[in-house]
Amino acid sequence: MRFGHFDDEKREYVIETPKTPYPWINYLGSESFFGLVSNTAGGYCFYRDARYRRLTRYRYNNVPVDEGGRYFYIKDGDDTWTPSWRPMKKELERYECRHGMGYTKISSARGGVGVETLMFVPVGHNCEVHQVTVTNEGQAAKTVKLFSFVEFCLWNALDDMTNFQQNFNTGEVEIEGSTIYHVTEYRERRDHYAFYHVNAPLAGFDTDRHSFLGLYNGFGEAQVPLSGEPRNSRASGWHPIASHCLDVALAPGESKTFVFVLGYVENPREEKFSAPGVANKTRAKALIDAFSTPAQVEEALGKLRATWDALLGKLTIKSGDEKLDRMVNIWNQYQCMVTFNMSRSASYFESGIGRGMGFRDSNQDLLGFVHMVPERARERIIDIASTQFEDGSAYHQYQPLTKRGNNDIGSGFNDDPLWLILGVGAYIRETGDIGILDEQVPFDNDPNNTATLLEHLKRSFDHVPNNLGPNGLPLIGRADWNDCLNLNCFSETPDESFQTTGNKVGRTAESTFIAGLFLLAGKEYVALLEKLGRNGEAEQASGLLTKMAAVMEDKGWDGEWFLRAYDFFGEPIGSNRCEEGKIFIEPQGMCVMGGIGVESGKAKLALDSVKKHLDSKYGIVLLQPAYTTYHVKLGEISSYPPGYKENAGIFCHNNPWVVIAETELGRADRAWEYYTKIAPAYLEDISDVHRMEPYVYAQMIAGKDAVNHGEAKNSWLTGTAAYNYVAVTQHILGIRAELDGLRVKPCLPKHIGEVSVKRVLRGVTFDITIKNRGTGSHKLTADGQPVDGVVVPYPATGKTVRVVCEC
Ligand code: BGC
Repeated sequence: MRFGHFDDEKREYVIETPKTPYPWINYLGSESFFGLVSNTAGGYCFYRDARYRRLTRYRYNNVPVDEGGRYFYIKDGDDTWTPSWRPMKKELERYECRHGMGYTKISSARGGVGVETLMFVPVGHNCEVHQVTVTNEGQAAKTVKLFSFVEFCLWNALDDMTNFQQNFNTGEVEIEGSTIYHVTEYRERRDHYAFYHVNAPLAGFDTDRHSFLGLYNGFGEAQVPLSGEPRNSRASGWHPIASHCLDVALAPGESKTFVFVLGYVENPREEKFSAPGVANKTRAKALIDAFSTPAQVEEALGKLRATWDALLGKLTIKSGDEKLDRMVNIWNQYQCMVTFNMSRSASYFESGIGRGMGFRDSNQDLLGFVHMVPERARERIIDIASTQFEDGSAYHQYQPLTKRGNNDIGSGFNDDPLWLILGVGAYIRETGDIGILDEQVPFDNDPNNTATLLEHLKRSFDHVPNNLGPNGLPLIGRADWNDCLNLNCFSETPDESFQTTGNKVGRTAESTFIAGLFLLAGKEYVALLEKLGRNGEAEQASGLLTKMAAVMEDKGWDGEWFLRAYDFFGEPIGSNRCEEGKIFIEPQGMCVMGGIGVESGKAKLALDSVKKHLDSKYGIVLLQPAYTTYHVKLGEISSYPPGYKENAGIFCHNNPWVVIAETELGRADRAWEYYTKIAPAYLEDISDVHRMEPYVYAQMIAGKDAVNHGEAKNSWLTGTAAYNYVAVTQHILGIRAELDGLRVKPCLPKHIGEVSVKRVLRGVTFDITIKNRGTGSHKLTADGQPVDGVVVPYPATGKTVRVVCEC
């Protein structure tokens, strides 16, 4: 069942009912001011950091879901209703929510009154604009009252939810004309405040939540809009809010448009006050002036559109398959930009107060956004590498505000360092900026202890051979990519974290996944060394890779698939000999990506085993059979009920590894089958089962052992976005930036005949036509001249290269 449709022309998903199977959200803002907004106007906004600079309050995990947002109320005679359906939930005669690139538009009508609310964060500004157009669709003149409503968060979102003895006393506002200023704690150490403004004179206002709602009422029963009487309340402590009341008189057919600005201002300390105790409003007024007319809003929206045109224009395709086109051209890239901005901080499944930036996560996310914002990717790389330790190991996370490693979680996730090589490699292949390898980068953020970025990569690489276990395979440490496979942890206490609690000391537990990743990242490292002319080092590194591949084919092989690990006692995991957890997805995908077993036939066997044991109707599950009981020697993975998360859920992040692996073997149809099983646009028709947004990936879909097989959770912030983008663009479509040219090596299913691709890279536009006959071989021409192999060299001069690939 569907709940909307794609409008590809406008790059929007159009939701046709407010009653979606879960709140379907969008993100506003791409620089420093961000908002989350659901299809019923729920959500919140923040400046830079979702924990420390939260502007509006949101109630996670509440009843009903999605409590708090940017609400407008219409009082039309005896009828009071909310155009976003929630919170009043009055029947609407018309409803539509359009989630677009950085904006959301909700339109609805009731009782002959139409309301359209457009919300976005203008480029270069720290505010949300809410433009509300009210239309009299009836035959008679009428006057309605329009009430706005936002509830302020007292800045620190965690404190706001927990420290009531203090913060019920701190709330303060100032009211000036049509602007309500939220100045809680501005009197002391905060140099920032928020405001909510409307470009029209007020019939009244409210700033105290109890007065507006009534102490025992929810948002849907707010007494001020129900009565139509603003109370002009002034918040003092408790819960500051901002609500404007406007009288809107409309002739039949007439529309009136109001521009609301919800802004954030930081003042230099010496300019904080304009008079004792009065906040200096100069900067707020400048922001208000920038958006005081609909024409200014229109212009800002145009600028936002142009920004997205540029971001999404680096790789576009026309394939004849509209779902593929919308994933590649629009939504997959969009999600990659959102993960770039948010990492894993703020979604409807991440509360914005928890995790820092993951070392592994950030490097992987980079693979999906490097082509859109290479300069910002560069900055991110330096930030990440600066948290690395001298021995090549890495903090598992770092804090975005301080950019320092997070001591609470520490290091010891032995795959982490290798992802840095992949992140840096992707950046250099995209930009050609090999000079980044000469940058001096600190270890553990110590400016007195630095080395070149190349040296950081060397330490990342060497960390594997320096930390081998009894079988010659990489030691796993706390965990590898699978944070929940905790082989040294042995936790028996419910209140401790599997990731941070003391590990048993032992150098036995080994990971075949890290071995596969070592091959994949190692090849990238060798290519960089060769490009630098460091052939001796390249040869030495290659030798280590060959050795590791041989160890894997011997000690890492179980007969029909690759083992997953050796545990603390040296026993195999992910082996036919195990009772549960006989086969895992991660090493099958990653080892083949690293090239292990391709020649010996083991790769094919391993992937056939994936098909046989792990594939399901809704995607490839992580392992089989699921663990039915808790295994202290395995850790968190066995803590989940069968079919969820890492315990045999369809963990969407690792499905594209198998897609890529299948393309390595040239098996286009199977790669395609796996790709389309989890790509959201292909799931639109089963939105009732899937439940999450049909325009973005979710981290997990319940596996075949779960009660609700096919139901997804944790949409938006997941490495799934980046890796699926890599899989579909670089391996299925086969368009990949290499150090010396653009590789064009598609592996497409037969039904996709001709694809045109535009790839803008290093100032060159590659106009590519793929003529797919499913031959399995590739014949390329560039500007009419035959190309030797599948890499079209970057032209010395010239801005456009026409490439034809017959395959
Ligand atoms: C983490 C990833 C990890 C994955 C699998 C995610 O929640 O962010 O770093 O690889 O889980 O455990």
